[in-house]
Amino acid sequence: MKRIAILGTGSFAPEKILTNADLEKMVDTTDEWITQRTGIKERHISDKDTPTSVLAVKAAERALAAATVNAGDLDFIICGTVTPDMIFPSMACLVQAKLGATKAVAFDIAAGCTGFIYGMELARSLITADPSRKVLLIGAEELTKITDWTDRSSCVLFGDGAGAVVLAQVDEDRGILSTFLGADGNLGDLIYQPGGGSLHPASHETVDGKMHVIKMAGNRVFPHAVRKMGEAATRALEAAGVPQDQLDLLIPHQANFRIIDAIGRQLNLPMEKVYVNIDRYGNTSSASIPIALDEAVRNGRITPGKHVMLVAFGAGLTWGAVLMRW
Ligand code: COA
Repeated sequence: MKRIAILGTGSFAPEKILTNADLEKMVDTTDEWITQRTGIKERHISDKDTPTSVLAVKAAERALAAATVNAGDLDFIICGTVTPDMIFPSMACLVQAKLGATKAVAFDIAAGCTGFIYGMELARSLITADPSRKVLLIGAEELTKITDWTDRSSCVLFGDGAGAVVLAQVDEDRGILSTFLGADGNLGDLIYQPGGGSLHPASHETVDGKMHVIKMAGNRVFPHAVRKMGEAATRALEAAGVPQDQLDLLIPHQANFRIIDAIGRQLNLPMEKVYVNIDRYGNTSSASIPIALDEAVRNGRITPGKHVMLVAFGAGLTWGAVLMRW
């Protein structure tokens, strides 16, 4: 049996931590409100001189070491990110140079918090087309660099970090069993960053008008997130013919504990089968799933033979799920 599988995982988060108590001094909020409404206690935040590619490279080096693959043997580097170092060149090209992965084709995917899941399907397709290929997939973000620190409804949510995996074909019955992706561009204005693109190029007006920060209608996003992640996970289980009760671990995008809890209940999963680390990271967008996956592999929550589901939702709107046998 040949399948496309993850050979190794890695992650990295900046050392500096911003707690809810710190946020109480910045905006009109409380630790109690943030904890009860989101499940977040603290998040890692990058300093101003450290761009996202630095986090991406650290996570990638750990994934390559775990996979025992040399950077020079990579065929593709794909970065899921909406906070690249600059608009162009792509962050994947910056990572390629820093890793010395001279053979690799490199590009970014902008699918918001679903970037890593979209990347998994892309990696699967690329390896299906040529089974000799090795793909490095990274989710890396510094959302705190585009956060509106005066907007209490969004600034309490976000954190920085990176996670990475190396994928290749294996001659074993483990790896990706099914995927499901979706998008609805009609809901693009629920989470977006209006300034800096060709519609509103950077100018004094866009800066004064706070157009370079995240705009989000959080309470409108919430029900879509629950419905679409639940649907994506169900469709991926159906496509693989794996019954719900054989799912061993759900790793959902860490956006809000109440969203995570609702998806767990929708899939009839007890909470011990749902991975949660939002209390320590906040929402790290496309990095959230590969960070959680790396933690779960390293702390023994994932062991060979387990059915693991990754499911995400994000700006676009986009959503998707990947079911794997580890
Ligand atoms: N501290 C204290 N009060 C706050 C607050 C904060 N940080 N942020 C908002 N509030 C207040 C609001 O002003 C509002 O007050 P009002 O009732 O007097 O008007 C009240 O809390 C309820 O606001 P609401 O927006 O309805 O809260 P909520 O329960 O929906 O929680 C989010 C807000 C943003 C935490 C929640 O909607 C959410 O997580 N949504 C999903 C966002 C998301 O996941 N985005 C990324 C997708 S990848």
